[in-house]
Amino acid sequence: MNKQIIVITGGTTGIGFACAEYLLNLDYRVIITGRTKENLDSAISKLGQNCFGFLSNTSSLSDIDELVIKVKNQFGNIDGLFVNAGVFRASNFEGTSEELFDETMNINFKGAFFTVQKFIPILNNPSSIVLNTSIVVFKSFADTSVYTASKAALESIAKVLNIELADRGIRVNIVSPGVTESPIQKKSGMTDEAINNLLEYFSSTSPIGRIIQPTDIAPIVEFLLSNKSRVLRNEKIIVDGGTTL
Ligand SMILES: NC(=O)c1ccc[n+]([C@@H]2O[C@H](COP(=O)([O-])OP(=O)(O)OC[C@H]3O[C@@H](n4cnc5c(N)ncnc54)[C@H](OP(=O)(O)O)[C@@H]3O)[C@@H](O)[C@H]2O)c1
Repeated sequence: MNKQIIVITGGTTGIGFACAEYLLNLDYRVIITGRTKENLDSAISKLGQNCFGFLSNTSSLSDIDELVIKVKNQFGNIDGLFVNAGVFRASNFEGTSEELFDETMNINFKGAFFTVQKFIPILNNPSSIVLNTSIVVFKSFADTSVYTASKAALESIAKVLNIELADRGIRVNIVSPGVTESPIQKKSGMTDEAINNLLEYFSSTSPIGRIIQPTDIAPIVEFLLSNKSRVLRNEKIIVDGGTTL
């Protein structure tokens, strides 16, 4: 029986939720986080008793400290960390406010950076970290400048971490999703019409003829977290159905 313990930040909806569900079905023990109590309660009720959840705002360093202490006290060391919590708000470059800049960078990069740092003491040897970035890092889309910067920054540390953490048996890889149908679009403030147009565009132009679903990403993340990928370092798996070809 698989008893590996995995922490997923932002596991209450979308990609993180689908990964939690997939891992639980393979008998992993899964701990999810989120910042909205309603979403966390709803996720835990759907995922069942083998899933554990903590409210934790990834952009707050004290929240991350508390999270690590709670996980350590309740579970001991962990075997994997999926750094997934993230936000997207569309804004053209000229209209990007300092508030939007800080919010995006604080969650997607600074929060991710310190989540990794603070979990290191309770990561087993060996263990696996997976960073969730995006195709925006290598394919440009208008109105995504801060989001793109936050994901590029996150990707850029994977190499360094693989060198610095090698002696600890910690390896770091990247999952790079294409446009994926998830609550992120609604949370970003897009109208229903804009969301439908986006999803329709990426469905009709994709070689697979449909939009990526969070459940498409889950097996890839499980592969990167598991022993099956034990020799991979700084590998980036693009999960976009070929839209960026
Ligand atoms: N969907 C896409 O097209 C796409 C493409 C490429 C990459 N991604 C990346 O995939 C990741 C997951 O996105 P998704 O599409 O699954 O969106 P989602 O459904 O909105 O999920 C985001 C998750 O992150 C959590 N979260 C957001 N801000 C947080 C914070 N400050 N502290 C703690 N948790 C926080 C959310 O919890 P709350 O609900 O409580 O805020 C939720 O659980 C993100 O990093 C995103 O950038 C998404």
